[in-house]
Amino acid sequence: MEKVKIGVAGLGRLGKIHARNLAFKIPGAELTAACSLLESELAYAKNELNVQDCYTNYDEMLAKADIQAVAIVTSSGEHCKQLAAALDAGKHVFCEKPLGITVDECFAAEKAVEKHPEKVFLLGFMRRFDPSYVYAKAKIEDGAIGEPYLVKATGVDPLKYIEGALKFAKTSGGLFIDMAIHDIDLMRWFLKSDPVSVYAVGSSYGFPQFAEIGDAEAGCALYKFQNDAMGIIHTGRTAAHGYHIETEIVGTKGSIRISPVPQKNLAILYNEQGVVTECVEAFPERFDEAYRSELQYFIDCVLTGKTPEINVYDGTRSTQIAFATTRSFKEGALVHIQYSD
Ligand SMILES: NC(=O)c1ccc[n+]([C@@H]2O[C@H](COP(=O)([O-])OP(=O)(O)OC[C@H]3O[C@@H](n4cnc5c(N)ncnc54)[C@H](O)[C@@H]3O)[C@@H](O)[C@H]2O)c1
Repeated sequence: MEKVKIGVAGLGRLGKIHARNLAFKIPGAELTAACSLLESELAYAKNELNVQDCYTNYDEMLAKADIQAVAIVTSSGEHCKQLAAALDAGKHVFCEKPLGITVDECFAAEKAVEKHPEKVFLLGFMRRFDPSYVYAKAKIEDGAIGEPYLVKATGVDPLKYIEGALKFAKTSGGLFIDMAIHDIDLMRWFLKSDPVSVYAVGSSYGFPQFAEIGDAEAGCALYKFQNDAMGIIHTGRTAAHGYHIETEIVGTKGSIRISPVPQKNLAILYNEQGVVTECVEAFPERFDEAYRSELQYFIDCVLTGKTPEINVYDGTRSTQIAFATTRSFKEGALVHIQYSD
């Protein structure tokens, strides 16, 4: 079977997951190179993944490694310049979300992708590959709920990992940019439209440290879409029971709810504590299958020349909407969203 030789950039929390999948679980992929700022992470690539071609300098990997594609899983501020460099070096690109951390950066990324139409570019909005979301989308396309007019999305990180959230809060871009971007993408996907206005609120209830840096521990945003549909996002960092990702799509003839009880599996425990359903712990567990499917899709696109459905413009739009949401939260006012292209 023909294999796509690929290098991974970034071997942190998510980079290790993608690298392991590319090394062992994606037919058609061959992980042949890796890059990280940290020697300790490169030791992981060498010892655990048997990748010997390792770099601490990304440009050096692009210049020297025998690869046709890169998976960019570095810190968000690196994505736009790294994807442009990879495309210029003749590589296909899978890039983690967010596309960029400023809207101007996203516009520059659009130009870089447009310059290389012969190369595959896929942005990592992995929820679109999760089996339950894929099922919901297919049902909606089949007319199972009539015309969808409202998406209600909840995305709350586990309280268990609050220390990490506090540590990264200053550089995360804020609650709505860091956390809500997946829900923003899902609203656009299900409603087939872009929001024209947003009103967002938020505050800090148990952890004043977020308010002290101008951020929020939890927040809500209400959107009105171009096609008159509505969106509601509730996002936060302190779900006591685990990782709570829930989405409801309401239509003229019914509705679909995805994981209203974000349970670990189908088992239910009956004991002295009552009837207990354990919650999924964090994103690697919840989206394990989606992470594999999105990379399989990327490799299939490279092998067949197919153009991915998720494109660079989805990355720019979701970033624009996340910034407008943050502005509304900070100004305490309704924000009309302008899409200057
Ligand atoms: N899709 C999702 O569900 C999801 C989940 C978590 C993280 N992410 C995204 O994935 C990206 C990585 O997140 P993380 O939590 O793994 O971060 P992390 O901080 O754990 O790891 C960052 C990695 O990038 C490397 N790196 C940074 N700058 C680099 C450079 N210039 N050259 C080479 N390597 C460099 C670091 O050495 C490290 O290996 C972020 O953009 C984040 O938003 C997405």
